[in-house]
Amino acid sequence: MIERAETIEQNALEEIDQTADAGTLEEIRVKYMGKNGLLTQVLRSVGQAAPQDRPRIGQQVNKAKQAITESLKARREALAPLGTRPKASIDYTLPGRRPPFGQKHPLTLIREEVTEIFHEMGFGVVDGPEVELDYYNFEALNFPSDHPARDTQDTFHIGDDIVLRTHTSPVQIRTMEKQQPPVRVIAPGRTYRHENPDASHAFTFHQCEGLYVDKGVTMAHLKGDMTYFARRLFGKNVQVRFSPDFFPFTEPSVQYDFSCVACSSRGCKICKNTGWLEISGAGMVDPAVFGFVDYDPEVYTGYAFGMGLDRLAMFKYGIDSIHMFLENDLRLLGQ
Ligand code: DAH
Repeated sequence: MIERAETIEQNALEEIDQTADAGTLEEIRVKYMGKNGLLTQVLRSVGQAAPQDRPRIGQQVNKAKQAITESLKARREALAPLGTRPKASIDYTLPGRRPPFGQKHPLTLIREEVTEIFHEMGFGVVDGPEVELDYYNFEALNFPSDHPARDTQDTFHIGDDIVLRTHTSPVQIRTMEKQQPPVRVIAPGRTYRHENPDASHAFTFHQCEGLYVDKGVTMAHLKGDMTYFARRLFGKNVQVRFSPDFFPFTEPSVQYDFSCVACSSRGCKICKNTGWLEISGAGMVDPAVFGFVDYDPEVYTGYAFGMGLDRLAMFKYGIDSIHMFLENDLRLLGQ
């Protein structure tokens, strides 16, 4: 019986050695050490042997069992594909590392929200170049080349007649050149000025232009639409205030303010204790501008506005410096 156990062990080890797949290894295990395995049978028949032989037989069977088990384990590991082979140095129970998720920039968020609100009011979105002809940036907006209003929009000159646009208003002209009234569009985008930087002024900033031209458009439409816009963006308690202003391309021209959303007009740092936030310039499109695009000012009237998107985002998200938008500090986005 001892010899039998020895033979079984040898055969098993040989078979294991010659096997190249994990399934067969399992079959070998069952064949030798399963419930009715060859080795198990030997163990079961130990009772029939002479009493003095029994311990040695038992020892031999155990030795065979151990050898086969170890050989199976070694072979199984050798056959496992590299990636699945367990390595003691990795703790598989540790939680995974989260990949950092991106977030929308505050200026993107505000542009999307503003666009959404004007969509609801029937405005489409148009676009124009940031490197712009002097003609569209100034001339056709009724700023003749010697007009003092140009001083308020000093900019970067690319060539004699080419500038970085100082506002989104040139998109008005480009739009009206291409289509007849009714026109109802907004034009969000990036703008540039030669500014002395402070908390609310930067070389690069963003505006959203608006233009509505049709028969019978009046200042009442401007007031109504801006009030609706203010309340959709900042809540229904916001008040809107218009005051006289000047722009070469609107007549009359206004500036409009929203009541301060940070302090409900009680007076705070953000509204410089005035209770009001300066939002935008606006007005009724000057008939001289219609002259540049061949619209008949006897038939059509229109309103236009241009607001600072950076300012809106600062008020909406409580950001106190315009420069943060372009500093690429991920902590701003993460909030
Ligand atoms: N473009 C002007 C600026 O940047 C703002 C503005 C005022 C736009 C009146 C308009 C408007 O369309 O009608 O200061």
